[in-house]
Amino acid sequence: MSARLRTVVFPVAGLGTRFLPATKVVPKELLPIMDRPLIQWAADEAIAAGADTLVFVVNRNKRAINDHFDMAFELESRLASSGKTEHLKMVRETLPAHVRPVFVLQPEARGLGHAVLCARPAVANGPFGVILPDDFILNRNGPGALAQMAAVQAEHGGSVIAVEPVEWKDTSRYGIVSGSQVNRQLMRIDTIVEKPRPDVAPSNLGVVGRYVLDHHIFDLLERTNPGAGGEIQLTDAIAALLKEQPAYAYRFDGVRYDCGNKLGYVQATLRCALDDEEIGDELRRTLENWLAPSVA
Ligand code: UTP
Repeated sequence: MSARLRTVVFPVAGLGTRFLPATKVVPKELLPIMDRPLIQWAADEAIAAGADTLVFVVNRNKRAINDHFDMAFELESRLASSGKTEHLKMVRETLPAHVRPVFVLQPEARGLGHAVLCARPAVANGPFGVILPDDFILNRNGPGALAQMAAVQAEHGGSVIAVEPVEWKDTSRYGIVSGSQVNRQLMRIDTIVEKPRPDVAPSNLGVVGRYVLDHHIFDLLERTNPGAGGEIQLTDAIAALLKEQPAYAYRFDGVRYDCGNKLGYVQATLRCALDDEEIGDELRRTLENWLAPSVA
C-alpha cells in the first residue's frame, strides 16, 4: 500500500480570538514563524507527505490566505526587473507546480467538524489528511508528523489521529482518547471524548491538529448534531467512526507548539530562530545576556 496522502484539508475558518487584535485583519494562519507564515509551514508538511491537492476551508475574512498562494504579479515583475532572483524564487515557490490549491468557503463558523465537511466536494476517495496550522510540529531529525501518520495508515489501515500526553489539568482543552496499545507509539482507540474535565477524562492523551481520516467520516459528519459549544465537533464524528472501523492514536516524533496561544507561538519562534544559521548564534548570546543573573 502507498504511504502517500493525495489530499490534505486545512480548516482555517475559525475566528482566532486568542490573538486579537493581531488577527483583526491578518488571519492567524498568516502570522509568521521566522520568515514563513504558519500556513506555509503546514502546506510544506502536507506536500512532504505526498499531497498534490491542498484544500483550504476559509471564510470571507481569510482571503489573504488565497493571496499568499496566488501569483503576486506586480511584486514578481519588480523583483524580476531588478534582478532579485533569490527573492523572486521565494515568492514563486509558495507551492510547487504539481500542487493544486483549492479554496472552499465555510460561510459561518459552525465548528471544526463542519469545516471539514465543507471540504467534501474537493476531497478524492480514500484516506485524506487534515492539518490545523496553528498546531505547529517540528521534527528536526526525520519526516514531518503527517508523513509519519501516512506511513502508519498505509500499514494499519483505518484512521490515524495525532496525540500527545497533556497536563491532567488541561484535559478540558482537548479531545481525549483511550484504548489498547499496539506498540510504543500506537494505540487502537476505544474511546474519544471532547474536552472532558480532569476528574472524568479517560486518560491524559490529547488529540492535536493532525489527522488521517477515512473518507466515510464525511457521511458521519453529515449526521453529526451540534455538540459542545453548539458546534459540529469532529470528535463526535470520530466517536461514531470508531463503532464501524478502527482508528489509531499515534504519538508522533517531534515537538508540538500550540501557536494558537501566545506562549506556544513565542516558543516556536524562538526555537526556529535559535536553529537559524544566520541569526541563531547571536540570538543565543542575546538570550544568555538577558537571562544571566546581573552582577551587583
Ligand atoms: P480553534 O478552536 O483554535 O479556534 O479552532 P480559532 O477560531 O482558530 O481560534 P480561537 O480559539 O478563537 O483563538 C481549531 C481549528 O479549526 C478551525 C480553526 O480555523 C482552527 O484551525 N475552525 C474552527 C474552522 O475552520 N471553522 C470553525 O467553525 C471552527
